[in-house]
Amino acid sequence: MAIPASDFEFYKQFLTEETGLSPESEKIYLLESRLSPVYKKMGFEDLGELTDLLRAGDANAKRCVIEAILDTETCFFRDRKIFDMVINDVLPDIVASKKSKETINVWTAGCASGQEPYSLAMLIKEQAKMFKKNIVKIFATDLSESAIKTAIAGEYTQYDVQRGVPVRMLIKYFAQNNTDWMINKNVRSLVKFEVGNILNSVSVNQKYDLVLCRNVLSEFDESQKRKALENIHASLARHGRLVIGFHDNIEGAKDLFVPQADKDGLYIPVQPA
Ligand SMILES: C[S@@+](CC[C@H](N)C(=O)[O-])C[C@H]1O[C@@H](n2cnc3c(N)ncnc32)[C@H](O)[C@@H]1O
Repeated sequence: MAIPASDFEFYKQFLTEETGLSPESEKIYLLESRLSPVYKKMGFEDLGELTDLLRAGDANAKRCVIEAILDTETCFFRDRKIFDMVINDVLPDIVASKKSKETINVWTAGCASGQEPYSLAMLIKEQAKMFKKNIVKIFATDLSESAIKTAIAGEYTQYDVQRGVPVRMLIKYFAQNNTDWMINKNVRSLVKFEVGNILNSVSVNQKYDLVLCRNVLSEFDESQKRKALENIHASLARHGRLVIGFHDNIEGAKDLFVPQADKDGLYIPVQPA
């Protein structure tokens, strides 16, 4: 079912406001294919009925459309080089700046179904000696309710774990449950998950030493991307660090972050003069 041009504009505006994502008109087919199961599941004959509900502000329609549009593609240890940089370069500097017993706070913004924060948590367990004087807390958020549900359950298919978990770590940090794999309590206890929109302003009381926001902002509308980066900037401690993905950039927020020399994807927040 083709989306009329006027409805496409409505969807575009709705999605930009609610998620930050800004579908280009050449991706109209993607919008159609993602929304078709939604209206069918609701028992509608065509997209028009769903669009009417959405225009009327129906909360369930809104939630279902957002959920269908979000791309929650992820895997364990995605772009392994970034994890190596975080564990070998970034976290040791953060540990060195901390007093004994001080908490190291990490936020993974747009964590999808949990593979990213759990990968980091496993590496932290592997380097237990480095963290022996500190407590590490990983806060992981995503706009997708279903992704966060999977993350909290911590249960992954054989296919999921094959995509990135080295066998040694699979044996050490997962327990087999029929054909699935459950992440260990020890790893799980480092991570707290919550549904959250990166566009919403963050609590000023919580400052993070490290924020990972990878593969989230690349399809954002420019002004919404700026808003998200402003929120991340406000959430970072003075000495904090931002890590973005290899295909991301901070275009439009160069006044807020400067790249760390020789470290792809690593940024330092600019402090007000
Ligand atoms: C492609 S996945 C990347 C997941 C993970 N960071 C990685 O690199 O593997 C992008 C994630 O960003 C989330 N996302 C998109 N817009 C968001 C928003 N406004 N607030 C929070 N999460 C958002 C999506 O739901 C999705 O799970």
